[in-house]
Amino acid sequence: MKDYERDYADFRETPGFEHGDEPPCNTSANPTFYDILDARASRRGFMAGGLAALATGIYGASLAPRAALAQSTAAPALLGFAAVPVSKDDSVAVPAGYKVQVLVPWGTPIRSDAPAYRPGAVTGADQALQVGSHHDGMHFFPIEGTAPDAGSSEDGLLVLNHEYVEPRFMHAAKWAGQTLEGEDLVLDANGLRPDDEVLAEINAHGITIVRIARGADGVWAVADDGRNRRITGATPFEIAGPVRGTDFVRTRYSPDGTRIRGTLNNCAHGVTPWNTYMSAEENWAGYFVNTDKVDQKADLPREHARYGVPTETSRYRWEKAASGADEFARFDASTKGASAAEDYRNEPNAFGWMVEVDPFDPASTPVKRTHLGRFAHEGVVFAPVTAGRPVVCYSGDDARFEYIYKFVSAKPYEPGVTRGEILDEGTLYAAKFNADGTGEWLALAPGLNGLTPENGFADLADILVNTRLSADRAGATKMDRPEWGAIDPASGEVYFTLTNNTRRTQTQVDPVNPRAQNAFGSIVRWTEAEGDHAATAFAWELFVLAGTTPASATFAGRALGEDAIFACPDGLWCDRDSRLWIQTDMGDMGPPFAGTLAPFGTNAMLAADPRTGEVRRFLTGPWGQEVTGVVTTPDQRTMFVNFQHPGGHATGAQFAAGDFGSGFPDYDGSVPRSATIVITRDDGGVIGA
Ligand code: FEO
Ligand code: CA
Ligand code: CA
Repeated sequence: MKDYERDYADFRETPGFEHGDEPPCNTSANPTFYDILDARASRRGFMAGGLAALATGIYGASLAPRAALAQSTAAPALLGFAAVPVSKDDSVAVPAGYKVQVLVPWGTPIRSDAPAYRPGAVTGADQALQVGSHHDGMHFFPIEGTAPDAGSSEDGLLVLNHEYVEPRFMHAAKWAGQTLEGEDLVLDANGLRPDDEVLAEINAHGITIVRIARGADGVWAVADDGRNRRITGATPFEIAGPVRGTDFVRTRYSPDGTRIRGTLNNCAHGVTPWNTYMSAEENWAGYFVNTDKVDQKADLPREHARYGVPTETSRYRWEKAASGADEFARFDASTKGASAAEDYRNEPNAFGWMVEVDPFDPASTPVKRTHLGRFAHEGVVFAPVTAGRPVVCYSGDDARFEYIYKFVSAKPYEPGVTRGEILDEGTLYAAKFNADGTGEWLALAPGLNGLTPENGFADLADILVNTRLSADRAGATKMDRPEWGAIDPASGEVYFTLTNNTRRTQTQVDPVNPRAQNAFGSIVRWTEAEGDHAATAFAWELFVLAGTTPASATFAGRALGEDAIFACPDGLWCDRDSRLWIQTDMGDMGPPFAGTLAPFGTNAMLAADPRTGEVRRFLTGPWGQEVTGVVTTPDQRTMFVNFQHPGGHATGAQFAAGDFGSGFPDYDGSVPRSATIVITRDDGGVIGA
């Protein structure tokens, strides 16, 4: 049993709960996505006939023109590569005519004078100057620094974030021979942890900024640059937006509630129109503990309880660092002092935000942008900007039965002038998907949608700190774990992955609902009213229901074939030609490949054609990893992709025997490590074409 599982009596009802996925905390009565699908399908008389009928039913009415188009239009082929098969090997596979290179694995020195990587013996000081662990969201910023997707395709700043750590691999030399599962810890006789182990783990989190360049031989390498930088779980941040300076974020470290140390569990990312990088704080709640009790029962404030802050012990027990130093004690959010300025009861309130960093300004202090809401942010995707119009971005809350959000700025975008401060004033919305294929954006703002003092929402800061409760109150639609979003530059359609939701039990199923115990996930897409991303209405459809061939369907009514089957879509990105890149996270997939997800092999990346619904497998990865993070250079001839947590499936017995589950990327018997891979074509062509 993992630490965070102990705090939730119902975790055993949640098969597939892994990796610190946030426990389901939504107890509101809002309808689920499937309630609505069922309503749409049944309204049209598709109560029987299985998944294909459901898929046809969903799209048969409102989307018939598109489906017909998909099957009749002779558009030039968007996908020009030969599919790779499902893999069960501890290796990387790409289509014929493509090749891969490993770049910036965990532990890579970020400058030539930084300490070398020492497998299984990482120190806090080393890790502060090395690439972090568990790579996730990533962008290649052309070195000119003028635009996110214009400039050099041979030289730039690679910015990537780091979701979590696997302590047994970090400290493998010291912990050798012990039976340790994925996130097991070795405590001392007093139940404490050595400070430097904790510091190494904190420093392996956060964001890495490194200059990379392609050599004459075509090989990419890290280049020394004054902008190479690590932002970690300990780096000072400014708090910006409506929550800055409020009672919610006063701590002993920052009694005026304006600063906080660190960013944690950074999942996907976003790239702003003004060329900065945003990083999402996803499963941050488990890093804290609040042991406050009344009458022997846990007594958490709602801003902790609705996010699942543990009540007994934290995920990594950083609060148990032996010295008790302030930088570690802050992870204990229990009430200890006479006021919030004397303890860390509010420390968790400074997490769950989107954070912004300017990779081109190494002296800049990163910022938490609180108006984008507080939840398990998977990432953020910005709509294309127009001068004089608001800035709009979308973000999903990756936990079971949580919501999709959108932020619309109050001020208009001004090219060359607008900076991150524009995100500090505007309106946050939560999505409501109606049964008839329409949708509404529900404003989470004072006085609207029931968000009044009478209903317990004192002001805007209260609404934002309690974003999930606000969306509950407003009546948003509970989704099946919203992960990444992407926007098709050609159509303006917004896509979101809904990775899975195995918590939907059989008793919740009706005859036409194919997604009870939803292990496979789906991708939804929508168009904003009149093509305006700032609109408050939209029209939606399912793009694909993932799964095996008999369990899958695309909007065009076809099943996924052997070259296309996939499950648990997570990472998502649409390139400038409108290729939709889909990355899977089925958890730690490795031998023995048993269970529901066995037919899909290791985690993979696929490409889809938004017009036809065709899906084709492009990449398979090694054992234990998930594929996450994808971007190309502006010329689309070099692609960067991350493999996260290789070897994560290794059992405690394997670890004790010195078998770390996967050899990736060193294949020399040392612990596996997350890494970026660089994908190019032998003929130098556009990736995927
Ligand atoms: Fe960190 Fe929701 O994946
Ligand atoms: Ca993810
Ligand atoms: Ca995931």
